[in-house]
Amino acid sequence: MKKVYLGTNTKMYKTIKEHLSFVKDLESYTKDLSREDLELFVIPSYTSIGPCRDACNPKLITIGAQNMHYADEGQFTGEISPKMLQEVGAEIIELGHSERRHILGEDDIFINRKVLSAFSHGFSPLLCIGETGEQKEEGLSVKTLRMQLMADLDGVSKEDASNLMVAYEPVWAIGKRGKPATSDYVDKMHREIREILLDILGEVGREVPILFGGSVNNDNFRGFITCEEVNGLFIGRSARDAKNFSYIIHEIMGMDL
Ligand code: PGA
Repeated sequence: MKKVYLGTNTKMYKTIKEHLSFVKDLESYTKDLSREDLELFVIPSYTSIGPCRDACNPKLITIGAQNMHYADEGQFTGEISPKMLQEVGAEIIELGHSERRHILGEDDIFINRKVLSAFSHGFSPLLCIGETGEQKEEGLSVKTLRMQLMADLDGVSKEDASNLMVAYEPVWAIGKRGKPATSDYVDKMHREIREILLDILGEVGREVPILFGGSVNNDNFRGFITCEEVNGLFIGRSARDAKNFSYIIHEIMGMDL
């Protein structure tokens, strides 16, 4: 069985209390599954990172942060630093999510600084990339992904790359108004991403887990996870309920992958 990465970003949906019951439930529903072939992670809001880390076993659930500033400290009102996230026990740092790129205006130069900072602080960055609907219509999907990866990973060393994860999340497929991608499209794009990672990083690019995200649900996860270059799923709405997320996790871990 290939190692499978399954995780959720809870966005701005849960309070500390709600996160605690979510991670505790998720831990108890999934503790029967060996973590040898499974990396399960939850990326809550900043205020819930510490409480979630304390509430569950780090061997069963890895905790991450939804964003991070690149500087250790400074005049950056409203931002959060790597040191602060280390202090509360975050291990994964999600960077470049489509909502941060397209609603909060983050560009690839800023994202690249954060990626480098995440590595230098010992985190695993989960770099999110994806084309918009317009870029797809214009036939620019692969070019967009290549440009994002080249810029966001600029200066990443081969040693660092062994801690990198990438999530392919086409902007047009994410969220309530998103249109789920077909598994053929996901298969094709993940193969392209693997090639780009090999170009940029050399052979270590083969080991970087590539997760798929964007309207993953109970009907389509099987088609996505069986694509050769899909190493995991990054799920929003369908993972918000711990029972449903656990259903998807169990189904996947029961598949012959
Ligand atoms: P969704 O969110 O599964 O609700 O589309 C995915 C994401 O934004 O990572």
